[in-house]
Amino acid sequence: MSTNEKKKALVAGGLGVIGRNLVEYLAQQPDWEVLGLSRRAAPDGTPGVHLQVDLLDPADARARLGGLEGVTHVFHAAYQEHDDPHALVDANLGMLRNLVEAVSPSPSLRRVVLYEGAKYYGAHLGAFATPAREDDPRHMPPNFYYDMQDWLLGTAAGRPWDAVVLRPDVVCGFAIGNPMNLAMVIAVYASISKALGLPLRFPGTATCYGKLAQVTDAAQLARGSVWAATEGRGGEAYNLTNGDVFRWYQAWHAIARWFDMEVGEPQTIPLAQFMADKAPLWQSLVQRHGLQPVPYDQIAAWGFGDFIFRCDWDVISSTTRIRQAGFHDVVDSTQMFLRLFDEFRTRKVIP
Ligand SMILES: NC(=O)c1ccc[n+]([C@@H]2O[C@H](COP(=O)([O-])OP(=O)(O)OC[C@H]3O[C@@H](n4cnc5c(N)ncnc54)[C@H](OP(=O)(O)O)[C@@H]3O)[C@@H](O)[C@H]2O)c1
Repeated sequence: MSTNEKKKALVAGGLGVIGRNLVEYLAQQPDWEVLGLSRRAAPDGTPGVHLQVDLLDPADARARLGGLEGVTHVFHAAYQEHDDPHALVDANLGMLRNLVEAVSPSPSLRRVVLYEGAKYYGAHLGAFATPAREDDPRHMPPNFYYDMQDWLLGTAAGRPWDAVVLRPDVVCGFAIGNPMNLAMVIAVYASISKALGLPLRFPGTATCYGKLAQVTDAAQLARGSVWAATEGRGGEAYNLTNGDVFRWYQAWHAIARWFDMEVGEPQTIPLAQFMADKAPLWQSLVQRHGLQPVPYDQIAAWGFGDFIFRCDWDVISSTTRIRQAGFHDVVDSTQMFLRLFDEFRTRKVIP
């Protein structure tokens, strides 16, 4: 398939932070047609066609996806969070399998793009070898990405379609109600701190404040996803971050300036606990500023912030492989945060 030929994408998890930004990007590309899918109905204004499918239900997946015509690329960004690692495997491998088994009999399918992340390297377990390279030895299983990747690449062997794996880290973009969205955590935390007349204090550890960090702009990931779908090498895994690293104290000063706040000294607080009682305050901000009526428990995933802001070690994935393979885009991560806050304000999600 030439890169200019019309392509048809099916984006599983089309309302998530990765999926919805990918759907929006693909909808703007003249050579792509896009279908999104998830269990929820799409909000008004969602581009492309959105299908309501429960990927945990194989019969539902077969019934709604089995007859789709002309899908050339599947992007698997559906995700279910579970504390128990075996439940995480069952749910996420189950969704991938039901999706691929429903769609892959179609002769039009060329490639499946699977999203993993730095958890592949054990980022969720504590310090890991950095910069993490795609072929680094795996950690002691279980790890849901290992099961998903092994199943997908094994299933693709000998088929007319192949698979590419992308490993972003800390994806930042607009999405509501998802368990991992750091930009929303920072934006809501800063807005509440400001409303309380507080300086902007880094809520993680003083050590993390000085360590090297990385994030992935959802828009950068969307561009990289198209690259992976059309130019990446089948069977390969690629780290895909913004391509820069930063220290939290550097970004924090720029973030405070954007919110027109003083920077305070870091003070470690469990966000999940200390932000839990701020729903009435948030509600007053929603009313005063005419914000979207997003339920407070869906506006920010505080536990994810607690996790990221307590990494007392450098968090870096090597991007050498994807650059050498031809994807060269770089995003300035601090500028990305400020651009996203502009977007959140325009969307009337923060004051
Ligand atoms: N966010 C990050 O910072 C990050 C970083 C690195 C890697 N990743 C990885 O990237 C992948 C996608 O993550 P994400 O953060 O974009 O996820 P997300 O924002 O939580 O979105 C998950 C999507 O999956 C859909 N979904 C959940 N259960 C479903 C089901 N049974 N059937 C159909 N759709 C279902 C959800 O919509 P409904 O609820 O409407 O079904 C939603 O659209 C995951 O593997 C994640 O680990 C994420």
